[in-house]
Amino acid sequence: MGRGLLALILVLGAAIGAARAQSCDEELPASLSNYSGLACSAVWNNYILRYSKDQDNVLSIVLSTAYATGWVGMGFSKDGMMVGSSAMVGWMGKTGIPHIKPYYLGGKSSSEVKLNQGQLLTTAVQPTVVVEQAKIYIAFQLKFSAPVTQQNLLFAFGMKIPVNKHLTKHDDKTSLSFDFSSGTSSASSSYPSNLKRAHGALAVFGWGVLLPIGAIIARYCKHREPLWYYLHVVIQFIGFIFGLAAVVAGIALYDKLHANVTAHRGLGIFVLVLGILQVIAFFLRPNKDSKIRKYWNWYHHWTGRLALFFAAVNIVLGIQVGDAGSSWKVGYGFNLAVLLIASIILEVLLWTRWSKRNVAYTTN
Ligand code: HEM
Ligand code: HEM
Repeated sequence: MGRGLLALILVLGAAIGAARAQSCDEELPASLSNYSGLACSAVWNNYILRYSKDQDNVLSIVLSTAYATGWVGMGFSKDGMMVGSSAMVGWMGKTGIPHIKPYYLGGKSSSEVKLNQGQLLTTAVQPTVVVEQAKIYIAFQLKFSAPVTQQNLLFAFGMKIPVNKHLTKHDDKTSLSFDFSSGTSSASSSYPSNLKRAHGALAVFGWGVLLPIGAIIARYCKHREPLWYYLHVVIQFIGFIFGLAAVVAGIALYDKLHANVTAHRGLGIFVLVLGILQVIAFFLRPNKDSKIRKYWNWYHHWTGRLALFFAAVNIVLGIQVGDAGSSWKVGYGFNLAVLLIASIILEVLLWTRWSKRNVAYTTN
């Protein structure tokens, strides 16, 4: 058992080592012989960045990665964000003709990604694309007005071959800060990853944890009068404040990223409106003996359930559009499963308690 595991680790280690060694040691295709003396760095997934700069601030780049189909892009960004940056994008056309073109990334929809625009200045050396042994090489030279040192770089790829040089959205992308002097990369400092995490965490805690717990208490702990009521009021109030903060952070994030997550944004605002109505309804609730209390109850319960349902949908949507990753999926998934199972069990208990009470009532 132990030996098996050791063997597995050794094999995995060798495989990773081989993948690494293959990357930077490997020779460039013969057709790229005018690019020589390049430094090399593994930047992202299996993306290898080779580069050199000369005293005229000309940067030579050869980006290579595993390739089957679609496009591969490298962007130069002021702030680490996609919008407002310029990129070189290369691909192999359907008929086997290689393409490499500059684009201006003016927005996050296809129509705002503009061919032959942007701020990149190429030199007399023609940009080239080579596909060899299931790898693509994108080679180009750029002229900068000042020495290039620390630079925000974007990498992205899409699986669809561009039609009429029209790009469709990437299947994956990354933004990082690259130091062309030392060849090291780090997380982009100006990308609002903290704001994004704060937005997600506030939203999950408020809408995904506190508010559902408060609702569960109100439905299943009614026999603990008046404890259930105080708990419900306090928890829903705190939950609402977290939920509100999440939406405020979401709006700031939306502006910063120039996001176009319209469904997620719309659903988030809708859920917040329902939450605000719940808070207002709390202050306007009629007396217990009032005739209309029945309708108020009906309204408050169903608005609450609707809000919680759409909030859960929006958390899943947010994790998806925000590319939050598997720890968020597992964490929220686990939380949701616990809440659902608890609700089912408590619902069954509630029904048996009701039916017992009915039996007691009829036999008395
Ligand atoms: C038609 C082409 C493109 C479309 C429609 C598009 C759309 C989008 C969208 C909707 C997002 C938000 C996050 C998400 O939903 O995944 C995004 C983020 C991003 N994109 Fe693009 N994109 C395009 C081309 C490119 C290219 C060519 C690059 C770079 C070479 C790039 C780099 C990035 C990066 C780094 C991010 C994350 C940072 C940020 O949100 O600003 N995109 N893109
Ligand atoms: C009930 C309300 C909401 C919930 C439960 C919610 C939840 C989430 C979650 C869990 C994430 C993923 C966080 C991460 O990746 O770290 C996310 C991302 C995001 N949310 Fe929300 N959200 C809500 C409302 C809003 C609103 C109202 C807006 C905008 C006006 C918004 C804008 C965003 C943006 C821009 C992202 C990141 C998308 C990207 O990376 O391109 N959210 N949300």
